[in-house]
Amino acid sequence: MSGPATAPDAGLEVLFQEVSRGLGGPRKTLPPKLFYDARGARLFVEITRLEEYYPTRTELGILEHCLPEVARQVGPRARVVEFGSGSGEKTWKLLEALEDPAACIPIDIAREQLLDFARTIRAEHPGMRVEPLHTDYTRPYRLPWPDTGDGRTLFFFPGSTVGNFEPEEAARFLGNMADAGDGDSLLLLGVDLEKPARVVEPAYNDEAGVTAAFNRNALRNLNALLGADFDPEAFEHRAPWNPEESRIEMHLVSRRDQTVMVPHPGGDPALEVPFQAGDVIVTEHSYKYDRERLARLVAAGGWTARQTWTDERDWFAVQLLERG
Ligand code: AVJ
Repeated sequence: MSGPATAPDAGLEVLFQEVSRGLGGPRKTLPPKLFYDARGARLFVEITRLEEYYPTRTELGILEHCLPEVARQVGPRARVVEFGSGSGEKTWKLLEALEDPAACIPIDIAREQLLDFARTIRAEHPGMRVEPLHTDYTRPYRLPWPDTGDGRTLFFFPGSTVGNFEPEEAARFLGNMADAGDGDSLLLLGVDLEKPARVVEPAYNDEAGVTAAFNRNALRNLNALLGADFDPEAFEHRAPWNPEESRIEMHLVSRRDQTVMVPHPGGDPALEVPFQAGDVIVTEHSYKYDRERLARLVAAGGWTARQTWTDERDWFAVQLLERG
């Protein structure tokens, strides 16, 4: 069995530059992809099962009732390309619903989880081409395009992961997707909708502390990847709702004055990051969209909604989109 394609640009130098830019400025940031090493991927699965974390459960409920109609519109022998396949639970349901899917290209940055998932669906769909792509899709990517005849390409981008991009970047990302497909490609997109802070905040600050461990995991992963010397316990997890920007922000707040070293992978001088007690690293933005901003986002990305499904509480939306 072949392994996944691994992007050659997933280099440590690139990561170091990104981290330098993020931690070098007055408002310190780290990219959310740092959450997802093998441990982080497991912690995220744990998050999706928390009482407080409503998005996964809500989206799965919507998929349950809309997938037959999605399958009808997509037609037979589709080629499914999924960005951030994770544990693959939703992909699994989609593939079950589609008529004789021809190929599946799951893309993820968490390698072990991606390979496990590819192995499982190969066993379950022996006639289907499975081409996992291990890459950081926030950087330029090239898709493997198995020739599967004349079925459609269906892009699948669930989980409201689109909300982790800044709105302009999100539009660009959806636009690149539109450009990568053909005129008849479709996109099945899952987006978390705006709702009261009293619902959103607990989802990102659970009682059991799983999200806190997931947030600090970005620092552990950075230590492992670049040999940085973060003490994850020296940072406190916080997740405030930002009403002006309609987003939850994941913060790591320095508990004391401290200086962290991030060695340069090529041996150039290390990055030295000073913190005062109370200084914040922003590790993630999770934007929540209302209908109007969602419509503007998908239009800016070159897509039009064919159909939208939500849950009874209007907490989450799943849209089937076409080009144009
Ligand atoms: C599912 C990746 C979009 O923003 O809800 C969960 C990740 N961060 N808890 C989200 C996440 C904190 C997440 N995504």
